[in-house]
Amino acid sequence: MKLKHILLVGGAGYIGTSVTEHLLSKGLKITCLDSLLYAQKNSIKKFKSNKNYNFFLGDIREKKSYKNILKNVDVVIILAGLVGDPITKKYRQLSNSINLSGMKKFILACKKTKKLDRLIFISTCSNYGLSRKKNIIFKENSPLKPLSIYAKQKVEIEKFLLSFRKSENFKPCILRFATAFGLSPRMRFDLTVNHFTKSIFENKELEIYDAETWRPYCHVKDFARLIYIAITCKSKKIAFQVFNAGSSKNNFRKIDIINKIKKILFVRNIVFKKNDIDQRNYKVNFEKVKKVLKFKTKFSLEYGIKEIQRAIKKKKFKISKSQLGNYYIQNN
Ligand SMILES: NC(=O)c1ccc[n+]([C@@H]2O[C@H](COP(=O)([O-])OP(=O)(O)OC[C@H]3O[C@@H](n4cnc5c(N)ncnc54)[C@H](O)[C@@H]3O)[C@@H](O)[C@H]2O)c1
Repeated sequence: MKLKHILLVGGAGYIGTSVTEHLLSKGLKITCLDSLLYAQKNSIKKFKSNKNYNFFLGDIREKKSYKNILKNVDVVIILAGLVGDPITKKYRQLSNSINLSGMKKFILACKKTKKLDRLIFISTCSNYGLSRKKNIIFKENSPLKPLSIYAKQKVEIEKFLLSFRKSENFKPCILRFATAFGLSPRMRFDLTVNHFTKSIFENKELEIYDAETWRPYCHVKDFARLIYIAITCKSKKIAFQVFNAGSSKNNFRKIDIINKIKKILFVRNIVFKKNDIDQRNYKVNFEKVKKVLKFKTKFSLEYGIKEIQRAIKKKKFKISKSQLGNYYIQNN
């Protein structure tokens, strides 16, 4: 196989840095374009000595950031953006400009790049929204009912990509990721499993809203493995396809996660609350990605909980300030 050159847009993020580790270990050439919104320079430091890694500080909203880069890459993976409900709600205008208008402009530039073999857009299972009926498990063709600005913008970009169906030389694929967990070079402790584990380990009071609600989860290293499969498979297998990304066995309620943590850590200081504003409650079917791309997850929830516990014990994290002025927990 010809050595592919991959552009990871948003590659300095939580999932992006884990993907970088995996793709470099497979000998692929990586260019990362990222605005370092969270001032997460430390998270990419270790890649810089690798001859197959290049970093460009830039913004998907600015053509000059990517014009030349696009001429030289075979595959584009889009991970960039403001991620999650709280941040897109708080910075609505910025979210519109990055996640919607900036993203569309960037996608159009990719479409014009004749050499591009494929484009993979990372979307979210949050697009399914809420299931009030018991036993509904969402498939790729289930109706989308996004509840948050974040998910509504993801749905709009999905539609935008799929509207190019007749284009011969543009082959986008959409991966709807489950909620991620696990250790990554750029850590996020706002995600359910990571947040629960850290709070419980540090014996902080933990408020859990709607403990019975379901959501699918997937380890960041498994996402990295899936992206490798999506890069190396025949492009016609994934062109204009949507895949739920995760595993059917990893649909859990929040209470199930607490019960798993209980087997590893001493749990106290938990307050259960009802009627959160976050109404997401859904189970997802991941059979298509298993069947078509032969993807099976390897890393369990227990694995993620234990590795995070070990990293916190080693004091691997510190607080630093982001471009948005907020303080974030970063890798040391
Ligand atoms: N983390 C999850 O649980 C999860 C679940 C489903 C889908 N996703 C999707 O996966 C992708 C990555 O998520 P993540 O958890 O790694 O988030 P993250 O916030 O850690 O990563 C996003 C990256 O994008 C960069 N970025 C932001 N705006 C940019 C811009 N204008 N130009 C260039 N770079 C910019 C940030 O600096 C950051 O490195 C996102 O598209 C997200 O919607 C994540």
